[in-house]
Amino acid sequence: MNTLAKEDKLVKEPLYPVFPKLDKMVKFAKKLKQCVRIALSIWGITSSKKPPGPIYAQFGIADPCNHKCVMCGDHPPETHVSETTKAAFYNPPGIMSFENYKGIIDDLFARGTSDIEMVGQGEPMLNKHVVDMVAYAKKKGMYVRIVTNGSRLFDKQAEAMVDLGLDRLQLSLNAGNPETYPLIHVTESPENFKKVVANIRYLTDYKRKVGREAPYTRISFVITSRNCAELEKMVEVVHEMGADEAIFNHTVVHEGSQDLKMSEEQYKKMQADLPAAKAMAEKLGVNANLNTFAATPPSYMYEEITGPQVVPCYVGWYFARVLGNGSVLPCCQCTKPLSEVEQTDDFGKSWDSDTYNSFRDAARALPENSEMLSGCECDHCVLRPRNISIHNLLHPFNKIKGAKSEMLYHVSDIFKSRKDDQN
Ligand SMILES: C[S@@+](CC[C@H](N)C(=O)[O-])C[C@H]1O[C@@H](n2cnc3c(N)ncnc32)[C@H](O)[C@@H]1O
Ligand code: SF4
Ligand code: SF4
Repeated sequence: MNTLAKEDKLVKEPLYPVFPKLDKMVKFAKKLKQCVRIALSIWGITSSKKPPGPIYAQFGIADPCNHKCVMCGDHPPETHVSETTKAAFYNPPGIMSFENYKGIIDDLFARGTSDIEMVGQGEPMLNKHVVDMVAYAKKKGMYVRIVTNGSRLFDKQAEAMVDLGLDRLQLSLNAGNPETYPLIHVTESPENFKKVVANIRYLTDYKRKVGREAPYTRISFVITSRNCAELEKMVEVVHEMGADEAIFNHTVVHEGSQDLKMSEEQYKKMQADLPAAKAMAEKLGVNANLNTFAATPPSYMYEEITGPQVVPCYVGWYFARVLGNGSVLPCCQCTKPLSEVEQTDDFGKSWDSDTYNSFRDAARALPENSEMLSGCECDHCVLRPRNISIHNLLHPFNKIKGAKSEMLYHVSDIFKSRKDDQN
């Protein structure tokens, strides 16, 4: 079937709200209600057996990938394979069917979830229904984001994403110049870097041509020992792409990627380079999360982390993840699925299940050990700052002490749909 022909029909439907301000207020009120219900469920005031839906959910609509990246725990090159990466998929990789996708969206929508992201353990643009999937969620008024390596973002898809009102597109570039790109995306060439840059430039130009602000375009850089010396160049390339924001995160390392840890010396040099990168971002008008990045040490530099290493976790209430092969996962650092989506209504059953509730109880009881968390990396969790923020907000008389306040996320970030709403 020619899906693009179908997409052409879809993009003509009016997906933008008629009264945008009213629409924004209604969405804010819905999200607030969802947050209050989640807080009540965490406190145990309402039965933990009945939490509402997650605040946002990730869809891994395609598990395979057309790239191999050195830091990637799911599709690393041979040089970076380890026992952990071999176990990244509990079940064989798959592609999500449009039917199952619609079933999950319907379930989530009925449970109050209004924010979804197409990202998983592969490349979402490899799912031939990706445009139809965006259209389906947008028609329900959801906030829809996508994270892609940008290699399959051809002109037609770029136009469709703008026309449909996709809210945020995050492109993973990971390099500031064409020569560094193949050191990270090892299957790719310097020429491919230029193609990806041109792909996103087409989208940002098209967006301006048709007078649209969406999608908010964010270019992401996972920082490792291979690219930590080019932050300023990264900001410049984001400007060249006409994109809105540069987002920096430290790599998560696994057994096979120890060489990607920055040395002490590299880390110090990078911290010293940050003011110049910030000045460049300001000069070029590029939004960048450089303050948060500067204050957040890499999760592998244990000595830089203040406060307890493992903290109570609330991810089971506000987030969920479904892979292309149907695996339902509670977070991005747990590989053992809580269940599988085989039928269209399986997600809702899973979310309400005793297994999911046992996971929630075990995660909330951290740092206590539990068999329920055996497939999770709770000892070096990237969500630690967010979990501390949530814990301290919900337990004002029993706060987690010793963690630097400037490295914490603010819970109000949940309401920000644009800047710094990292997962
Ligand atoms: C796994 S990828 C899937 C989507 C798509 N293939 C892409 O690269 O954008 C999702 C995001 O995780 C990031 N990522 C991959 N490996 C990582 C690591 N070891 N630490 C932190 N982020 C990582 C990627 O750069 C990308 O932004
Ligand atoms: S493009 Fe994304 S999924 Fe593919 S190897 Fe790179 S980080 Fe992993
Ligand atoms: S790895 Fe552990 S602590 Fe981190 S989000 Fe997952 S369950 Fe929570």
